[in-house]
Amino acid sequence: MQHFRHYILLFLILPLMAFAEDGSQLWLRYPVNPKPRNIVNSNSKSPTIEISKKELNQHWAGQAIDLKIDRFPENFKDGYKIVSTPKKISVLAKTDLGLLYGSYHLLNLQQQKASFSNLKLEEKPSYDVRILNHWDNLDGTIERGYAGHSLWKWEDLPNKISPRYEEYARANASIGINATVLNNVNASPNMLREDYLKKVKVLADIFRPYGIKVYLSVNFSSPKVLGNTKDSDPLNKEVQKWWKDKAAEIYKLIPDFGGFLVKANSEGQPGPQDYGRTHADGANMMADVLKPYGGIVMWRAFVYSPSKEDRAKQAHLEFVPLDGKFRDNVIIQIKNGPIDFQPREAFNPLFGALRKTSEMVEFQITQEYLGQANHLVYLAPLFKETLDSDTFSDGKGSTIAKITDGTLRPAKLTDISAVANIGEDKNWTGHHFAQANWYAFGRLAWNHDLTSEKIADEWIKMTFTDDKNFVNQVKEMMLTSRETAVDYMMPLGLHHIFAGGHHYGPEPWGDYKGGRPDWSPVYYHQANAEGIGFDRTKTGSDAVSQYFTTLNETYNNIKTTPENLILWFHHVPWDYRMKDGKTLWDELCYKYDSGVQGVRAYQKAWESVKPYVDAERFSEVQDKLKIQAEDAVWWKDACLLYFQTFSKRPIPSDIEKPV
Ligand code: GCU
Repeated sequence: MQHFRHYILLFLILPLMAFAEDGSQLWLRYPVNPKPRNIVNSNSKSPTIEISKKELNQHWAGQAIDLKIDRFPENFKDGYKIVSTPKKISVLAKTDLGLLYGSYHLLNLQQQKASFSNLKLEEKPSYDVRILNHWDNLDGTIERGYAGHSLWKWEDLPNKISPRYEEYARANASIGINATVLNNVNASPNMLREDYLKKVKVLADIFRPYGIKVYLSVNFSSPKVLGNTKDSDPLNKEVQKWWKDKAAEIYKLIPDFGGFLVKANSEGQPGPQDYGRTHADGANMMADVLKPYGGIVMWRAFVYSPSKEDRAKQAHLEFVPLDGKFRDNVIIQIKNGPIDFQPREAFNPLFGALRKTSEMVEFQITQEYLGQANHLVYLAPLFKETLDSDTFSDGKGSTIAKITDGTLRPAKLTDISAVANIGEDKNWTGHHFAQANWYAFGRLAWNHDLTSEKIADEWIKMTFTDDKNFVNQVKEMMLTSRETAVDYMMPLGLHHIFAGGHHYGPEPWGDYKGGRPDWSPVYYHQANAEGIGFDRTKTGSDAVSQYFTTLNETYNNIKTTPENLILWFHHVPWDYRMKDGKTLWDELCYKYDSGVQGVRAYQKAWESVKPYVDAERFSEVQDKLKIQAEDAVWWKDACLLYFQTFSKRPIPSDIEKPV
């Protein structure tokens, strides 16, 4: 009897013990079987299959499972099929990794309390490479990282291994992420030193069974810095040999190494143009040395320099003339917007403009311009807005998703990336809700047709609870949060009016005359006595002409430009009548105010769900919402009081007075 009681107690306590409430479990809060169940069979054997078995035997409470390698067409990739009867479940895939993904799918369904007695589903990834970009430095700091220091303990490696390396791999595999760039795009040449490569090898070995390939950001001057070559000119034979030898050295250590990510001739980074060569010359030199091993080069299109030319036009001007000149293992990595991860941007006109060169999207999960780790901003709607944007490149329906996933452009390899928000904080991402952005990127990289709502729904149920009272309120908060942030920071297409350097608070008055005018907020909002906004029409910077017909005409005309981008494309008079009949000035005031009201409503909503959430996460989110509410007021007051010095119009009386 005594024993029996202990057993019951253990049964009750064990699952609870597994769920640390500090957020460290992420969405992987699977119930723990008191005894591993041994109900999983497989016709394949590998470390990846071992992981699937372990996960299911420990966490799966349902019927017996068969993990089966089967025949599928080439393009099925790491997809899987799940078929079930009340007694048995079969997971079928072409690869072991497909079986692991299928296993996580089952655990995900179990978390959502779905029924598995009659399943029939098939999944395959939208993109081949689903990659996180870490902007982690070798000294342990993270550029634009807000969740503490880097997870990678370079000084301890290769000898001391943090348990978090495997936890990281597991979390990524559970949502289908299969690749990672370990270091900052502003890359230290030292990353390619022999001692560092040995450390990288250790991480690659840990990640491999979870299906995650390692890639590195490389510094274009590496040959000169590390190899003492005369220069790093891509046409210099000695330089080419250095890269060739380096590739051989890397692949000897890491046979499935993914390839290089390169930021060249941008924001002070070295590149081929230092030697009068083109981006294609630089990218191709690297592509050639990686090709024999199946490696790729992700070459960033984020290039601009201080010049008279509108910054939003520069990537297009630079890369379109090079279309067709890149090797087939080069992919041009393009930020979603043409400026820099702003709360809202028009999409980057380079999408669709390269017809003979592969293109991929770069998103930013880390919230550099979206309140960092303090603001609750769910990013799936932003990611979807880009992916679903119609470029018209091949007629109506040429969405960015279809251009980059191989539907409209034949591609050897498709790829999608995002700058990670992961650090060594216990909860991984600084804000509990920022975990949802990591999750959302993974889910959309796997299936870009998923809706923001579906992803939020899954994530909430897995991470918190499936209680309707909680799910509905919190989902509403998440789904509106991006628009709310746009409203209190940069409504109606305003952009880049952040305080210089840290990009956290407002500084619309910033005018860095002595430094980089293209980093000055005043350059972007152009407010004056007449109105506000950046004129990118044909009579302005003519950025509109970089868009395909008929979008170029839509954006060129103030009447047809969507109002949420009106100040992105037009310099608009203060008394311009908006569609709702308000003047532009009043509209701006009400937008800022509605952002503030939005956050206050989140505070109330969060208070109301208190009974459904553990005390630790409740109070941590509550505190962050306090900061967010205060910041929203700060943004509204700073921007309205500053813009009022130009508009000379009163702030409507029903709006909270600036203090
Ligand atoms: C932004 C960011 C930089 C980063 C750069 C990039 O400008 O502020 O820190 O290096 O983007 O994407 O290369």
